[in-house]
Amino acid sequence: MKLNPETLPNHIAIIMDGNGRWAKKRYLPRVAGHKKGVETIKEIVIRCNELKIKVLTIYAFSTENWGRPKEEVRYLMNLPKYFFDDYLPKLMENNIKVQTIGNVEQLPDHTKNMMREAIQKTKNNTGLILNISLNYGSHQEITQAVKQIAQKVKDNQLEIDSIDETLISQHLETANLGEYANPDLMIRTSGEQRLSNFLLWQLAYSEFCFCDKYWPDFTPDDLDLALEEYANRHRRYGKL
Ligand code: FPP
Repeated sequence: MKLNPETLPNHIAIIMDGNGRWAKKRYLPRVAGHKKGVETIKEIVIRCNELKIKVLTIYAFSTENWGRPKEEVRYLMNLPKYFFDDYLPKLMENNIKVQTIGNVEQLPDHTKNMMREAIQKTKNNTGLILNISLNYGSHQEITQAVKQIAQKVKDNQLEIDSIDETLISQHLETANLGEYANPDLMIRTSGEQRLSNFLLWQLAYSEFCFCDKYWPDFTPDDLDLALEEYANRHRRYGKL
């Protein structure tokens, strides 16, 4: 599909939902859906990079996902290795930079180490930023920011009156994305229409696109369709 580069979003956020249902429909174990979902990520990342999108944030593991069966959590924690073992050379070849949001420190060592290696190896790349949300929750992120700001006030490093929206944004995990911190477009697959504790502050003015397909079935053409829909929306930011 031919898309007008001028109407593309800078930052796309995706809730990759429906892996379990994709697998169930095929009488496969749920984890088969996650495995196929990784293949979808690879294709979508390449398409975003081709389109010169600045940031792609994907919701890979939420703070609530720890409540899933132990075996599934274990499988999900192995996915970064499965993904990067195969895909890191391709990310390098395409100049893609890996970052994370969420509490990576609490992840198992092998997952944490894999993430650190991917971040380290791609740190000088200047193309798409692939921002992976791992052990991420928006409530936790905002709580953390409030604590940091309160501590600064207590230590007399900050006046209450200088707390504004910019300062709050600077204490969120997306702060290093600067002008691209807030997604322009949020896509959720599988027909569900919820935010599920994902980037609540950052999505305040984003356009939402809900796609009925399960994540493993989502293709670069489906992404293009969402981008076309986005291009036809008129963002008003509360104004007329
Ligand atoms: C939602 O589907 C999906 C997830 C909770 C996990 C998504 C993770 C990946 C696709 C891979 C992550 C990859 C890297 C590189 C870290 P679901 O299981 O909630 O599906 P359901 O709603 O149909 O049960």
